[in-house]
Amino acid sequence: TNVEWDAVTAEKGGFDHFMLKEIYEQPKAYRDTMRGRIDESGSKVIFPELNLTEEKIRSINNIHIVACGTAYHAGLVGGTAIERLVRIPVAFDVASEYRYRSPLITPETLVIVVSQSGETADTLAALREAHANGAHVLAITNVVGSSIARDADDVIATLAGPEIAVASTKAYTSQLIAFYLFGLYLAEVRGTQTAEEISHIIAAMQSLPEQVEAMLENTDAIKAYAKHISNHNNLFFIGRGVDYAVALEGSLKLKEISYIHSEAYAAGELKHGTLALIEDGIPVIALATQEALLEKTVSNIKEVKARGAEVMALSHEEHVSSLLKSVDQAFAIPKTLPLLTPALSVVPLQLLAYYASLARGNDVDKPRNLAKSVTVE
Ligand code: G6P
Repeated sequence: TNVEWDAVTAEKGGFDHFMLKEIYEQPKAYRDTMRGRIDESGSKVIFPELNLTEEKIRSINNIHIVACGTAYHAGLVGGTAIERLVRIPVAFDVASEYRYRSPLITPETLVIVVSQSGETADTLAALREAHANGAHVLAITNVVGSSIARDADDVIATLAGPEIAVASTKAYTSQLIAFYLFGLYLAEVRGTQTAEEISHIIAAMQSLPEQVEAMLENTDAIKAYAKHISNHNNLFFIGRGVDYAVALEGSLKLKEISYIHSEAYAAGELKHGTLALIEDGIPVIALATQEALLEKTVSNIKEVKARGAEVMALSHEEHVSSLLKSVDQAFAIPKTLPLLTPALSVVPLQLLAYYASLARGNDVDKPRNLAKSVTVE
């Protein structure tokens, strides 16, 4: 009926789809997830809600990050950040595999489960496996009253607000923010970063919301690129380091809602087989935001170019002109610290998936065969 239709339109707040609305809600989600967790001087992360004692934090000797889908991809970035900031070994598992590899879980293991809904059956089962082996379980979730939140020893709530679209956007980026904050908190307690380094990272994090706003102001170029991509049936995402983790998420997003097949590859791994699939005209999206790895990524870009690929690169403004010597198109994301780039670089990829899905006439918010929350194993 008209009444229902009006109610849904109103809920979408003037956007055509929930997904687009949720993409545009990200600056607010970043701010809300940071609020109350950074002290007034901007020099320290605080987590009043955690039961985890400083003594317990000092005793942790390994971390397992377990999740499904997009939440798993957030875990890949988050775990990389923690390992880098705190120098504790981190292992990653998709939740449906975790129990079956007999993971080495001890009371000194911190298990971090990540779940937007807090109801994913595989993730809940992983949490129980961790508990059965005496581990402390921290849940990063968007739903505080969820089963996962209830069962975990500690909860970091992502304050993204309700996410309706099946394809996760603001929940993913809020999970990144939660991980960065938690990584800094561990680094403070264990003394692995100086106070100066910590303030520097916090300041960079506090700029992220405005940087996302700036990216969302002008999306014409990404719209045009999405239209172009929508005529293809196959493409690649490549990247190194956290760019690879974001490549995985960008590829998943595109597959979920546009139904265009894509592969995400660690840029250096392509030549070990998959390069055979690069043909004339195949689009390759190269994430090249990591300065320290730029030269290596550029040589991987040249490998695909030499086989006829049409390359779009995502990098920072200062590298665009030199990248344009080896690629067909380049998009710039605002400048931030290398570890924080995923919180920016994923945004154009979300928009790419959205506009490609739209161009193909798909049901953006409710893609075929997928559910928002999966409560069966
Ligand atoms: C489903 C959704 C995905 C989501 C995954 C994990 O498969 O379609 O978008 O990433 O579940 O969900 P969770 O709620 O645990 O983050």
